[in-house]
Amino acid sequence: MADHVLAIDQGTTSTRAIVFDATGGVVAVSQREHEQIFPRAGQVEHDPVEIWTSTEWVVASCLSRAGIAASDVAAVGVTNQRETAIVWDRRTGRPVHNAIVWQDTRTQPRIDQLAAEGEGGTFRFAEQTGLPLATYFSASKIAWILDHVPGARDAAEAGHLVFGTPDTWVIWNLTGGARGGIHVTDVTNASRTLLMDLRTLDWSDELLAVWGIPRAMMPEIRSSSGVVGTTALPDTLHGTPIAGILGDQQAATFGQAAFEAGESKNTYGTGNFLLVNTGTDIVRSDSGLITTVAYRCDGEPARYALEGSIAVTGSLIQWLRDNLGIIQRSEDVETLAATVDDNGGAYFVPAFSGLYAPYWRPDARGALVGMTRYVNKGHIARAALESTAFQTRDVIEAVEADTGRALEELRVDGGMTRNDALMQFQADILGIPVVRPKVVETTALGAAYAAGLATGVWTSRDALRAHWQEDVRFEPRMPEDERERRYRLWQKAVSKSLDWVD
Ligand code: G3P
Repeated sequence: MADHVLAIDQGTTSTRAIVFDATGGVVAVSQREHEQIFPRAGQVEHDPVEIWTSTEWVVASCLSRAGIAASDVAAVGVTNQRETAIVWDRRTGRPVHNAIVWQDTRTQPRIDQLAAEGEGGTFRFAEQTGLPLATYFSASKIAWILDHVPGARDAAEAGHLVFGTPDTWVIWNLTGGARGGIHVTDVTNASRTLLMDLRTLDWSDELLAVWGIPRAMMPEIRSSSGVVGTTALPDTLHGTPIAGILGDQQAATFGQAAFEAGESKNTYGTGNFLLVNTGTDIVRSDSGLITTVAYRCDGEPARYALEGSIAVTGSLIQWLRDNLGIIQRSEDVETLAATVDDNGGAYFVPAFSGLYAPYWRPDARGALVGMTRYVNKGHIARAALESTAFQTRDVIEAVEADTGRALEELRVDGGMTRNDALMQFQADILGIPVVRPKVVETTALGAAYAAGLATGVWTSRDALRAHWQEDVRFEPRMPEDERERRYRLWQKAVSKSLDWVD
């Protein structure tokens, strides 16, 4: 009997395929990076064709590494970098422009214009969507493509062009592409577009009109766990149900078994994303968090979450490697930071795409402050790592203000959480334990869980909860007055970053 699940994780820097067995154990992994295209300052693109070619490659190589046949795979789950916008011609399967990535800020003028026009400013669509007006979300990216690619608007109005986040693009291609691919997304991804009404879980005609986006471009919104179609890759995977779709942060929440209200997780990736499940309640934030869909299983109401999105954490380490050249490989940051005892007084606010939660200030710029002749590259490496922990505290303060409850511990996942020194510092700066599970690759696991639940590989969410195992618990060790002194200095550094006006 087929009892393996294949997860495809189409992320910001790479695409991965992971085969899981029925115990949730990893059988094989395959990964391929794709090019980050920076046409100008503030612009970030990916080539959708490269993304699809990588996807095909990782699927084939992962199945072969796992040593299993396609018939052993019960279901496929797809998870993805969210918000990134791809527009393609449904007749040919050809994208009309590169994907405009979630970090891209080219649409800021349109955002400013819309915020100035309506009542509520940046928050004018927050009631329907749970989101502030920001370049981060898909709507302004789709509108930009329609406005800037010659002929795109006419082709869209004639019904030829379609939009999708990377889940939609991957699934359309997985199910046959121009030869009959299905055009779907799930509620979690749809909740990141600024075009879906959180209450109806449907595209809002009013919002589509505001952005000038024809409804015919939009994918059908499906549940996160439920069969949406079957694969049509003739040589590798044919006829396997695609049964899970979740944006990567929601997938990590699912993979951490944070299924119920009050449960949360913080994922350390390119950026950091902290999600707190609020159950079936749509909780509005007064503190700079966004409201998003956590997941929906077929036949059940949607579950919602509050999210603290931080744009730059892991990508700051890549910046130290690629732009400053002070480390050779990302993992070397730990060794470099360990050459010094503390940050030497340096604080680094990596506001490279402005600041997201809880500030939502697109005009903020990066700031490295507290510099003296004493500071060396070890201190800078340390300040860069510490900025991840300080930014996480910023969003946790917002969560506590919104929910009126103190978080008792923080469950973490993602690549950077393998760094013990960072996790210890995180616990020190928060004053609560930081808990790392045995499996830190929870994003792919969450997509696999959603797909396996819908196809009978797993019987219930409670059965999945039993898979979760604690690995290390980092207890706070820093004295209270020292913790607060450092956090105060961090807040001062943030104020410099917010003050910076071009
Ligand atoms: O919202 C952006 C987020 O989904 C990107 O995640 O892990 O691909 O950097 P990641």
